Amino acid sequence: MQSTILMAAEYGPPDVLEFVAVDLPSLDRAKVRVQVKAAGINPIDARRMTGEFRHGGLPQTFGTEFAGVIVEVPPGSTDWKVGDEVLGSGDGFTHASVIDVPIGNLVARPPAMAWPVAGTLAGVAQTATTVLDELGELKTLLIHGASGGVGSIAIQLARERGITVVATASEKNLGYLRELGAIAVPYGDGLIARLEQVHPAPFDASIDMAGTEEATQAALARVKADGPLVTIAGRKVSSPRIKPAWVKRNRANLEHVVQAVAEGRMRWTVSATFPFAKAADAYTAVLDGHTRGKSALVF
Ligand SMILES: NC(=O)c1ccc[n+]([C@@H]2O[C@H](COP(=O)([O-])OP(=O)(O)OC[C@H]3O[C@@H](n4cnc5c(N)ncnc54)[C@H](OP(=O)(O)O)[C@@H]3O)[C@@H](O)[C@H]2O)c1
Repeated sequence: MQSTILMAAEYGPPDVLEFVAVDLPSLDRAKVRVQVKAAGINPIDARRMTGEFRHGGLPQTFGTEFAGVIVEVPPGSTDWKVGDEVLGSGDGFTHASVIDVPIGNLVARPPAMAWPVAGTLAGVAQTATTVLDELGELKTLLIHGASGGVGSIAIQLARERGITVVATASEKNLGYLRELGAIAVPYGDGLIARLEQVHPAPFDASIDMAGTEEATQAALARVKADGPLVTIAGRKVSSPRIKPAWVKRNRANLEHVVQAVAEGRMRWTVSATFPFAKAADAYTAVLDGHTRGKSALVF
């Protein structure tokens, strides 16, 4: 079977992306073969393309999540069968028409869930849950850059845990943050004073999705002295108090969010879909850093 794979042989802007047709090897016994229907585009994909992150060298493939239909299972498989509709995670290879995925990563697609929704939940669900679990018990939380993918889910998971959330975004996304359950504050000059106005007491903790110096300074100023301050942005920070956090894959955490979205208890926004053939346009949009919810490639 052939797969059309999005690849880049060099680092650079979206025009380094190319489509390569590859004959897939025979299926590994620990994997299933999936025809991809939709795949989320995450900032990490675009940042690997530019060379800001250089994990595995060149040429490189992309994509950390997907939803699709199983087209082949290993002999004797009892977990899944051909035709099953699934979603899950993959380490930098899901932007391709057909992918081989470790069996342990899969979750059934809820029947009524649209493909772009199903294909965009794995990264944000597992990242937001990891970070909240690592922060431990909280009553109040400050989230910087919360109208994007991880922030949208983090707000709702935190609210589910009874946490009061104050979240930042640009003016155009403040109403959206309120709909998700947060007290919304615009980022930009005067942020610390605005945070104090809406939440005079110090926060128990903060999460930074934006990676800006402004977010660092606001966290230092507005979180209590022994409160944890974390960043997921993967950017250099000016204070040793800000600790990096990285996603840990956990199928139960993913299933929790998938069910909540399927049952309408949690809101999820796919703000743009791009045909796979237009992947360069999609990466350009994601590099801009102002996605509401998530963007998806559709196949
Ligand atoms: N550590 C990990 O394991 C992990 C996992 C997933 C993602 N990440 C990283 O975490 C970051 C967030 O991911 P995401 O998918 O949620 O990103 P995203 O969807 O692109 O969201 C970016 C958010 O940042 C806000 N923003 C943009 N400029 C800002 C500024 N100057 N100050 C404050 N906020 C600003 C945007 O709001 P407006 O649109 O309103 O400006 C939006 O809410 C990315 O850097 C990504 O690479 C890390």
